[in-house]
Amino acid sequence: MTGTALPAAAAATATLLLLLSISGGIGRLAAGAREPFACDPKDERARGFPFCQASSPVPERARDLVGRLTLQEKAKLLGNDAAAVPRLGIKGYEWWSEALHGVSNVGPGTRFGGDFPGATSFPQVITTAASFNASLWEAIGQVVSDEARAMYNGGMGGLTYWSPNINILRDPRWGRGQETPGEDPVVVGQYAASYVRGLQGAEGDGGGRLKVAACCKHFTAYDLDNWNGIDRYHFNARVSKQDMEDTFSVPFRMCVMEGKVASVMCSYNQVNGIPTCADPNLLRKTVRGAWRLDGYVVSDCDSVGVFYGNQHYTSTPQQAVADAIKAGLDLDCGPFLAKHTEEAVRGGLMNEADIDGALLNTLAVQMRLGMFDGEPSAQAYGTLGPKDVCTPAHQELALEAARQGIVLLKNQGPALPLSPRRHRAVAIIGPNSDVTVTMVGNYAGVACGYTTPLQGIGKYTKTIHQQGCADVACSDDKLFEGAIQAARGADATVLVMGLDQSIEAEFKDRDSLLLPGRQQELVSKVAMASKGPTVLVLMSGGPVDISFAKNDLRVAAILWAGYPGQAGGTAIADILFGATNPGGKLPMTWYPQDYLASVPMTVMDMRPTRSNLYPGRTYRFYGGPVVYPFGHGLSYTHFVHTLASAPSTVVVPLAGRRPANATMGPGKAVRVTHARCARLSLGVQLDVQNAGARDGAHTVLVFSTPPKDGGARWAPPRSQLVGFQRVHVAAGARERVGINIHVCKSLSVVDGAGVRRIPMGEHRLQIGDVVHSVSLQAEPLRVI
Ligand SMILES: *[C@@H]1O[C@H](CO)[C@@H](O)[C@H](O)[C@H]1NC(C)=O
Ligand SMILES: *[C@@H]1O[C@H](CO)[C@@H](O)[C@H](O)[C@H]1NC(C)=O
Repeated sequence: MTGTALPAAAAATATLLLLLSISGGIGRLAAGAREPFACDPKDERARGFPFCQASSPVPERARDLVGRLTLQEKAKLLGNDAAAVPRLGIKGYEWWSEALHGVSNVGPGTRFGGDFPGATSFPQVITTAASFNASLWEAIGQVVSDEARAMYNGGMGGLTYWSPNINILRDPRWGRGQETPGEDPVVVGQYAASYVRGLQGAEGDGGGRLKVAACCKHFTAYDLDNWNGIDRYHFNARVSKQDMEDTFSVPFRMCVMEGKVASVMCSYNQVNGIPTCADPNLLRKTVRGAWRLDGYVVSDCDSVGVFYGNQHYTSTPQQAVADAIKAGLDLDCGPFLAKHTEEAVRGGLMNEADIDGALLNTLAVQMRLGMFDGEPSAQAYGTLGPKDVCTPAHQELALEAARQGIVLLKNQGPALPLSPRRHRAVAIIGPNSDVTVTMVGNYAGVACGYTTPLQGIGKYTKTIHQQGCADVACSDDKLFEGAIQAARGADATVLVMGLDQSIEAEFKDRDSLLLPGRQQELVSKVAMASKGPTVLVLMSGGPVDISFAKNDLRVAAILWAGYPGQAGGTAIADILFGATNPGGKLPMTWYPQDYLASVPMTVMDMRPTRSNLYPGRTYRFYGGPVVYPFGHGLSYTHFVHTLASAPSTVVVPLAGRRPANATMGPGKAVRVTHARCARLSLGVQLDVQNAGARDGAHTVLVFSTPPKDGGARWAPPRSQLVGFQRVHVAAGARERVGINIHVCKSLSVVDGAGVRRIPMGEHRLQIGDVVHSVSLQAEPLRVI
């Protein structure tokens, strides 16, 4: 790798991070009402163009426009910085904007300043995922797209947002794990579909126009940034057909088919030797063909340049362009396609018709966004403006999301909640105790404002503040003594520790799961000295091995706040003092540090080896020791489950006519493509009783295990989440929760060839401590 130039994208990321850290709220550009992007009603010519006829079908308009473009013009529309076509009255457009958990200025399409000094900054996605509340995920998407449209109208934002990131959190070291909804494919897929629906607007809203266009990324098997000398620009992910079908593809399929996302981004890495952005099997056949993407496929930033320049996958830039376009890429983040496309066509490596195909996809999305409908202010969403950004309701939702996502990991005693009457002075210690931007994680924007943990707790009680460590690296003990003294003198001690972007970030994977530097030592020493109960609050995206604190009787309680967003300090304080009863659950496994020794980050396999020398990944396949399991999360109350109703037998009707044959009993499996899957679901009714004295929210998690005899030969998941539902239950009350389990999607297992099959026989459902068996039987077949 020596001698290889750093890809432009890496340099761009570094520049952006630099900008982010120095720009904080400085207005760089004055906002103003946006001029029409195209089809300006004041423009004589525009009225005559069929592509400007807002009432015509979009594909027809797109075809008309493509038919008017020259090859040179077409080439310049293939990059994120799409050029203007002045002779057709079309302005330039910057495609690259981001809105992972709030409108972000990572990406040149969006800026803060003027009338738009900031936007609502929601918790980082891993925290929001921990709420297990799909309505919350959609509600956040709605707020973010209100603010995005407002900024677009004001000339400060784009309409195409390259969010969410729905790669599986496969490895706990991944620096971008924080951006994802965790390790479970179904949770990630449900998050994707919900957030995308929120962003893009419900069907029928906005006169059939998209509110903004979302993008599910990075397709696929991308979850390594820079580990042990291997980086994402050079990594070849070797993925089995089985893992591809039952892990990596699941969220993307759900995003496209259920979320109806308008874009998918391919990744930097190769999968089985082919760069994802050059793989027709992944892009054309799967995303556009099998899943029917209605939208565009975009590259990760400069990834075509990367597979030519860094991976040497093609010998010329022109061949790289042709491979990408033919594979199904429609838009390049970067200048590579704009630069080399004409030569590739002239050299006969591809046809102009191939480019037309790409442009039909991108232009259609711009048309569905209303960009060719003339005056923005006269359109759906046209009245959104500065008054719709950082509204009290939006900021309240950011606070609510943090309250719903924070996870109570330990509560011995119980030490929590604290009480302002008994805990009149609380020592607040730690490098994350008074932070602002740490709370929003990466891919953030400029927040409307922040409440730090210190400020949040200060609203409940008197605080004694000590940093303890100068920063999260915590390389010395200079500040320990002050912290210890504070703990000695206070009625309770809250340590706010953990990570930030200096430890886990894009292009920075961890090599340890322990707390950095001497943080652990500080926690133990402070806990030893503390007069009152000691509470550990952790900020981190990925899991941290805090076994020492879990096992330390002096650390009475532990909260995981993830990166809780702009209002994180209020949410943490509300939970510590019991104004909010925590209900979040971990969306990923917390492994012990020694897990890393047997698991190279580069090994993609989800399943353990037979010898268990390689123990497998995520709760679905890994059965070894954990610090905290997937789904763990405590409450200040106590919930009891009782099964109200669930079928004990489900008949699976088969499609078509087949010979009567004894092969469909237990021990056999029916191919999903041979079953009549529509509406084939299994309804479970469960009563959740709140047996404690506080109101609270509880998430029902339904796991299934396939029959031993049916599925074992394919090494199916140990168990698999097949449904979840968050429910609010008042103290002493009981609520009924209904969960529908889709038989073909959820109870099928994937064989070694990547084929989904439904094993017949006893499937075991587990909901907390309730266990229920359902027998699946193929319908008796007709003799032919
Ligand atoms: C059932 O079908 C299998 C192959 O699908 C065949 O090998 C077997 O002989 C059949 N059994 C009977 C009873 O027809
Ligand atoms: C889920 O989130 C929505 C939006 O914040 C909220 O109204 C609802 O109460 C939440 N549900 C539960 C059970 O917490």
